Amino acid sequence: MLFPDYRPRRLRASKGLRRMIRETQLSPDDLILPLFAVGGRSVKNPIDALPGQFQYSVDNLVTPAREAFAAGVPAVILFGIPERKDPLGTSAYAKDGIVQKAVAALKNKLPELVVITDVCLCQYTDHGHCGVVEGNRVQNDASLELLARTALSHAAAGADMVAPSDMMDGRVAEIRDMLDENGFSHTPIMAYSAKYCSAYYGPFREAADSAPKFGDRRTYQMDPANALEAVREVTLDIEEGADIVMVKPALAYLDIICRVRQEIDLPLAAYNVSGEYAMIKAAAKMGWLDETDVMLESLTAIKRAGADMILTYFATKAARAVA
Ligand code: PBG
Ligand code: ZN
Repeated sequence: MLFPDYRPRRLRASKGLRRMIRETQLSPDDLILPLFAVGGRSVKNPIDALPGQFQYSVDNLVTPAREAFAAGVPAVILFGIPERKDPLGTSAYAKDGIVQKAVAALKNKLPELVVITDVCLCQYTDHGHCGVVEGNRVQNDASLELLARTALSHAAAGADMVAPSDMMDGRVAEIRDMLDENGFSHTPIMAYSAKYCSAYYGPFREAADSAPKFGDRRTYQMDPANALEAVREVTLDIEEGADIVMVKPALAYLDIICRVRQEIDLPLAAYNVSGEYAMIKAAAKMGWLDETDVMLESLTAIKRAGADMILTYFATKAARAVA
């Protein structure tokens, strides 16, 4: 069928017709809100590079979680900012660590909220790397046990799901074994499988105080130029026992989301990262674009590319906008 018989504009003529032929529907169910937990009481520190986002003490954390849940967002993912850092990141797997306390508080007040925890060492190590450092090298195998202990301590504190973001080889299998051996075979793993070494994480590192003190993360996070490798990483994590796999960041990596979607049949998450949020916020503040419209267009694009769920600092706002 060709013009003038076929006229694509016919089905764009009214709001009702456009609703009927819309292929992608963003739903609050798709969204996961990242939250930052910090020590102290009554703390709500604004994060400069993430306008509208805060570091919350455990007593204050329930408020944004409740708002998200009330807006229809089913889940949050927790990041901790500990009081102490050391070479082995011991407060990451301390029983009374910041994330462990935050999980317990959230599950106590909001039992139906799905509480996911980010599992990594970089916020907890004094050198800021995601694994153990020996002689200026990030040691893969020595990091695995610490990551698995961290995941177990989160599950023991009540986490509904653990999400390793470190990019060490073999960590999903190690975490799966540790959970299974300790009575947490029911706890799912959301693996940051194709996590790129991205400059878009800049604002997050300020928010979580997790920038590496020397070097960079290129020896463990993926080279942004690689796509086939993303499929390989995702496949490995699935073989190791991941229940949900993730591509991160999202907007500069829509092709990766699309490729991975075609290769796998597991639920796929995408992380609309801090820099992606900050760019929209900054341009909107300047009056250069409409924040709500660009937010919804971006999140819809991530879903259209193939993501089943989206981690985004816009979660509460977006859920309200599409409700
Ligand atoms: C830590 C971690 C990072 C993010 C999530 N977990 C930063 C990093 O790898 O340096 C990035 C999130 C964001 O930018 O929003 N491993
Ligand atoms: Zn890390």
